[in-house]
Amino acid sequence: MKEKISILISEERVDKRIREMAEAISAEFEGETVVLVCILKGSVFFTCELAKRLTIPVTMDFMCVSSYGDETKSSGIVRISKDLDQSVEGKNVIIIEDIIDSGRTLSYLMEMLKTRKPKTLRLCTLLDKPSRRVMDVAVDYTGFEIEDKFVVGYGLDYAQKYRNLPYIGVVEFLGDEDE
Ligand code: IMP
Ligand code: MG
Repeated sequence: MKEKISILISEERVDKRIREMAEAISAEFEGETVVLVCILKGSVFFTCELAKRLTIPVTMDFMCVSSYGDETKSSGIVRISKDLDQSVEGKNVIIIEDIIDSGRTLSYLMEMLKTRKPKTLRLCTLLDKPSRRVMDVAVDYTGFEIEDKFVVGYGLDYAQKYRNLPYIGVVEFLGDEDE
């Protein structure tokens, strides 16, 4: 399928919003250390940009979870292909996600991480599509709420492409003709 990308949220707006989110997190956890849990691969860009702007001590860990194949619809199946390297017991944990759509991935992940007894567990997402929610998830920090559109860039992909775009773009599908 062919696709065209148009800018939804510019690089400047994303940068400004991440700075604000970092200030809020730094204020909430002043005097404490937090573990940033980056959900691979989509959250890599967001996690790095956020981490650079935090003024509190942070450690970083990575988890690879998927509920999507190469399509734009959730399969409903959550698979952990890489777990955390370190224990989160007694720690301040912030899950960093690129986008919350149906909420299936994060509701599963939050419940799973709660059983590991962190001191606090927060959820921080760059994007949220609240109109698509199937499973309830409590989001603590949201960058932007967006409409029900398939987006790419800033780590988000369509069939593994476009993660490197420095802005958030909307994908317009142009039909089924050959690439
Ligand atoms: P959920 O389990 O339906 O909330 O799906 C969350 C995951 O689906 C995200 O971490 C993304 O990997 C993927 N996803 C959802 N919406 C989009 C989108 O608009 N663009 C790219 N990936 C998306
Ligand atoms: Mg993701």
